[in-house]
Amino acid sequence: MTPGYTAAAAASPNIALIKYWGNRIPVLRVPANGSISITLGGLETQTRVTFSEEWTQDRLILEGKVIDGRALSRVATHLDLIRQRSGVTLHACVESTSNFPLGAGIASSASAFAALTLAACAAAGLSLSSIELSRLARRGSGSACRSIFGGFVEWHAGTSDEDSYAEPLAPSEHWGLVNLVALVHREHKAVTSAEGHLLAETSPLQAARVAGAPDRLRECREALLSRDFDRLARVVELDSNLLHAVMMTSDPALFYWLPDTLRIIHAVSEWRQKGLPVCYTIDAGPNVHCLCPVEVAQQVDSLLRRVPGVSTLLRSQPGDAARLL
Ligand code: DP6
Repeated sequence: MTPGYTAAAAASPNIALIKYWGNRIPVLRVPANGSISITLGGLETQTRVTFSEEWTQDRLILEGKVIDGRALSRVATHLDLIRQRSGVTLHACVESTSNFPLGAGIASSASAFAALTLAACAAAGLSLSSIELSRLARRGSGSACRSIFGGFVEWHAGTSDEDSYAEPLAPSEHWGLVNLVALVHREHKAVTSAEGHLLAETSPLQAARVAGAPDRLRECREALLSRDFDRLARVVELDSNLLHAVMMTSDPALFYWLPDTLRIIHAVSEWRQKGLPVCYTIDAGPNVHCLCPVEVAQQVDSLLRRVPGVSTLLRSQPGDAARLL
């Protein structure tokens, strides 16, 4: 094997406070609206990429298992972008492991494509700025452009490949917000986000969701920068509810919620009404992300464990940027 053609990287998933759903330019993953997220520390995907003459085609090994089909072709298409840019023509072996369940509404494609982009660029000898890496990661999975950065991150929607990338809004130490993911279901989702984005336009509510996004982004940015939890909670829940309203009114309709999802939504709303600072947000899956200031995290944790249907809680705080290992 040629030395220098291998590199490994780690990246964390992120939870969107203002969500990405639907693309203005689907092939480039230039989104219909901008989004804001928190990079989830402690949760991580580690990926090694090795370009070698040894391989006659790209190989993907996830959690020790050889994978082909759609997942492999998505990775191979992404590697093609990096090969084009670097001039490397070799096939690659991609080995990846994560310390959290894949495909359950924790954006695993975000950490996967952020780590893949960083590792593959390093293995191919490309040295790119964080913004260039973010742009490139976006092509593999939209939300991955946010996982290049740590802390609180905003993805500027843009209108072309060039101006659609993420940037840090505030570093991880800005605010000790805790994200507790209440897992109600661990299986892979039936409709992937990639398929869901294509349906967004079929909902009569998508245009209204997109039109209101700049106001929600401003509200979220200001709430985050001034550490105003109550203001943040209101816009985060509104944005999540709008996302799911679009999903439920697409053709065909997408229902990611399970009965336990709604049970947690009700419980969180009730706790906040009684004065506990906590809010919920849900991605393309049934699991519920509960956000709260670190001071009340233990209390929220114990309350959540008592809600019927909550099997596991994954806890994280704003984490670091993607890094080479
Ligand atoms: C609901 O980034 O997973 O989590 O670009 O097709 O890979 P692809 O989609 P993906 O979509 C994420 C959708 C979401 C909201 C969000 O993370 O902003």
